[in-house]
This record gives sequence, C-alpha cells and structure tokens, in this order.
Amino acid sequence: MTDMDVVKYLTEKKVPVDRALKKYFSDINAFFEIMYYSIGGGKRIRPILAIASYEANGGKDSKQIMPIACGLELIHTYSLIHDDLPAMDDDDFRRGKAAAHKKFGEAMAILSGDGLFAHAFELFAQGNGLVKEKLMVIKAVSEVVGPKGVVYGQTLDISKEMSHNPVSLRRIHFNKTAKFIAVSVKCGAIMAQAPVPLINELYTAGIYMGMLFQYTDDILDVVGEKEKLGKTPGKDLAAGKLTAPAVYGLDGAMFRARRYAELANQKFSGLGKRFSVFNMITDFILHRTF
Ligand code: IPE
Ligand code: IPE
Ligand code: MG
Ligand code: MG
Ligand code: MG
Repeated sequence: MTDMDVVKYLTEKKVPVDRALKKYFSDINAFFEIMYYSIGGGKRIRPILAIASYEANGGKDSKQIMPIACGLELIHTYSLIHDDLPAMDDDDFRRGKAAAHKKFGEAMAILSGDGLFAHAFELFAQGNGLVKEKLMVIKAVSEVVGPKGVVYGQTLDISKEMSHNPVSLRRIHFNKTAKFIAVSVKCGAIMAQAPVPLINELYTAGIYMGMLFQYTDDILDVVGEKEKLGKTPGKDLAAGKLTAPAVYGLDGAMFRARRYAELANQKFSGLGKRFSVFNMITDFILHRTF
C-alpha cells in the first residue's frame, strides 16, 4: 500500500467509529455532552487497531468489535483529559480546541475523565455472546491501562526523581503508551477468537508499534506544527520532560524510531500476509505529522 492508501484507510475506518461514539453519547444525560466534547477530534488509532486486528483475524461482525473499539477510545480520551490538567502537563489546547479543564473547569475535567474510564467498561461488557472473550478483553485492558501500565507510566512521567537515561525513558514509554497500543491490537484478536499464541505475538508486535508511537509523539513535540497536531508543541522541552529527543537528541530519536518501526514490521510480517495492514499503519506512525 502507498502513503495515500494508508491515509484513505485510516480516514475510512474512522467514520463508523465516530458514528458509534456519537450514538453511545446521545440522549443519556447532560454530563455525556460534556464528556463527548473531549472525544471529538482524535485520530482514533486505538479503535482502528482493534478493528483492523479483528478483521485480519477473520472477525466479521462489526457489532461485536465496535463497543470494544470505542471503549478503548474512551479510556484514551480520559487519559488525555487528565494528562492536560494543570497538575500534570498543564496543556490548554487539545485536539484542536480548548482542553476540557479550560472549557469546563478543572472539576468537570477530572470528572469527565473518571466518567469515561468507567463507562468504557460498560461498553466492553455490553451485548450478548462472546462472554469469555469479553472477560478476556476486560482483564487484558484493565491490566495495562491502570497502575501496572498507563497510570503507572504517567506517575513516572511526572516524577522529578527520574534521571534522564535510556532505561527510565524506556520504562515511561513502555508503560504510558506502548502497552495500550499493544492491547488495542490484542483486543481485536481476542474478539475474533484467534488462538492464544497468535494473540500474544500480536501483542508483542504491538509493543514495538507503541514504542514507535511515543517516539514520534516526542519527536513531534520538537518538530511538529500546532495546527496539524491540534496540541501545543515545544511543551516537553520547556517542562524538562524525559523524552526521546531529550535522551538521544533529535537525530538519535529519529534513528531509534526507524528501528522500532523495523522491529514492528518484522514481527507483523512474520505473522503472515493478512497482517500487512499493520505494516502500513506502522509506516504511517513513523512518518506522521499529527
Ligand atoms: C496522544 O495520543 C497521547 C499519546 C499517548 C502519545 P494520540 O496521538 O493518539 O492522540 P489523538 O487521539 O489523536 O488525539
Ligand atoms: C501522554 O504522553 C501519554 C498518556 C498516557 C496520555 P504525552 O503527555 O506526551 O501526550 P501529549 O503529547 O500530551 O498528547
Ligand atoms: Mg504527559
Ligand atoms: Mg501531555
Ligand atoms: Mg507528547
């Protein structure tokens, strides 16, 4: 696939995800509107990875995977809302608009995050059938987005005690970002009832992709444009964050990003041709500008 094809693929895959998210947030109560504000504007990489994995593993019923895919986006959105709070990264601009705490105040932003995090699990559990698979999804996701994964990674990220070295950087990236990307791929495979060894191989490949994802996020903080990113670049350097460019320099970070892309691509390729969509998404992440 060419660069154009991957952009087309991601754009097309986003449409039903956005439609489902809209549906899940309609006509419940006024607070859902407040949470929905923060959902608007994301790339939907995690839900798309889950759907792509479901389809590559032979899954046919979009109704089975869509609530799971959307649940992942709710958790991701919660993590962004809390990440932007003044007590964390203190970012006022997110997804091309005012961050939740700027729009609704800090208390509502905190509650929006809380609400999204919990509501995700209602989506994971919804529907009839595939009860065992849904329990596997809930187990896998809760293990990597909480205090053994994303939340832990965020505590390391804001810690002043971490010295700027490769080991610390790797631990932050692995926990705050890579595990979540990897579990998104894993969830699709679980819901398509892929064999456990394959589910685990996909998770490993997803870790490389997730490390790459945070490398390019760190790189874009240095070289990205505000309008394209929909968030404010230059913040990591100003805050003295432990990022890939801070540890390896910009060229070093770019070199290592390419290396992670190679590792991800090798791993996905080794799993067979039906996973080539992940090679395409890996290359997109390596070259992304937003
Ligand atoms: C940003 O994630 C936060 C990271 C984990 C790097 P995305 O780049 O996926 O943000 P959205 O969802 O497109 O806004
Ligand atoms: C965020 O990392 C990771 C999360 C778990 C939200 P960053 O703090 O670098 O993400 P951005 O750059 O603000 O999107
Ligand atoms: Mg952060
Ligand atoms: Mg941040
Ligand atoms: Mg960042």
